[in-house]
Amino acid sequence: MQQTKHTLQLNVNGTNIQREVEPRTHLADFLRESELLTGTNLGCEHGVCGACTIEMNTAPVRSCITYAITCQNAKIRTIEGFDSDHIMTQLKLAFTREHALQCGYCTSGMLVSAHDIVIRKPNASADEVRQALAGNLCRCTGYAGIVRAIMSVLYAQANATSNG
Ligand code: FES
Ligand code: FES
Repeated sequence: MQQTKHTLQLNVNGTNIQREVEPRTHLADFLRESELLTGTNLGCEHGVCGACTIEMNTAPVRSCITYAITCQNAKIRTIEGFDSDHIMTQLKLAFTREHALQCGYCTSGMLVSAHDIVIRKPNASADEVRQALAGNLCRCTGYAGIVRAIMSVLYAQANATSNG
């Protein structure tokens, strides 16, 4: 059944946009199908696996359980919007170096969560990194490489800070 569309204004990866959306459209479908930002993956579509994690107003959010229309005036950053982000560049290099991905399906959501950890928990231990990643599931890697990769970026950031 066709639903009434509503006007949605938001900022996606630095660009202000205005679109007509149906109330039932979730943010992940909106980003993928309307904005063609297919770096955001969909796995469970129940808020469990974290594959769809994006950044909204500087916090990680599961876009599959967020209705697009509830994001009025929000600032959204998808994995594509981190291209010039220094911490994300370090994380991508570390994920490659530490074999933190295999099929890559979880990786964009994992990287967005990892970026949040580096920003919000600069002194996190490996156990705290594991806890903070509890909402991101990976069926390939066993997590060891992912945790190593994030820890290596945390160490690099701490060294950069202590060396002035
Ligand atoms: S697809 Fe959103 S949490 Fe799994
Ligand atoms: S790399 Fe395949 S699900 Fe994580």
